Amino acid sequence: MKLLVRAALVAVTLAAWGVAASPASAAPVSPAVVGGTRAAQGEFPFVVRLSMGCGGALYSPTIVLTAAHCVSRTGTNTSITATLGSVDLQSSSRITVRSNYVYQAPGYNGNGKDWALIRLASPVTSLATLPLATTTAYDSGTFTIVGWGAASEGGAQQRYLLKATVPFVSDTTCNSRTMYNGEVIASDEICAGYASGGTDTCQGDSGGPMFRRDAGNAWIQVGIVSWGDGCARPNKPGVYSQVSTFAANIKAAAASLGG
Ligand code: ARG
Repeated sequence: MKLLVRAALVAVTLAAWGVAASPASAAPVSPAVVGGTRAAQGEFPFVVRLSMGCGGALYSPTIVLTAAHCVSRTGTNTSITATLGSVDLQSSSRITVRSNYVYQAPGYNGNGKDWALIRLASPVTSLATLPLATTTAYDSGTFTIVGWGAASEGGAQQRYLLKATVPFVSDTTCNSRTMYNGEVIASDEICAGYASGGTDTCQGDSGGPMFRRDAGNAWIQVGIVSWGDGCARPNKPGVYSQVSTFAANIKAAAASLGG
């Protein structure tokens, strides 16, 4: 069954404190990228850790793209701390910046439209940003996933950024009876993972980017970590917000926030 995002956010919060949580609607939750390995320092400069226990991607020097289910509403918000620039969340060379505004996708109700923007109180100009996929041209192939979330279902949040690669799964396959049986919103969501399981994002990775190389060999964001049934289970791929669907809206919203 679909892991409800509200339950997931609570689980993430608890997991951040090392508390095991088991939403009634799902199997026990676990930590960050499952089946991953450590990312090298500087390998993915655009990856952001958010203090509510989510990931994000630096879209511009002042804007972080994350998941709608990681935030509660649109409006002034100075309570979120973004950590950037280090694979080690405890590194003395990490950058930390406060939020000053949150923009949640209009009409977000827990089904689809799982994107949000966080505006930073001061610009981060020392790190590369991650461009959005603006067409479906890159909505296939092999994707990179990253995060500080659980490394196994029900596991702890991670100190060091983990990475893995996962293959695209078509909407038809992802919505088949053995997989999500129609629960995936084809227009808004893109699936990725192995039918055999073993590699996936997990609790605490939400909001983080899924990305690949474009024709010019540059990284381009195709997904936002959204949901899954457990983590890395066979026939339960990760489900990601489909960035190409929302790219124009994200761009306009970012511009409206001045970034
Ligand atoms: N909703 C989760 C979070 O808040 C992310 C779940 C991703 N699950 C997966 N199996 N890919 O962190």
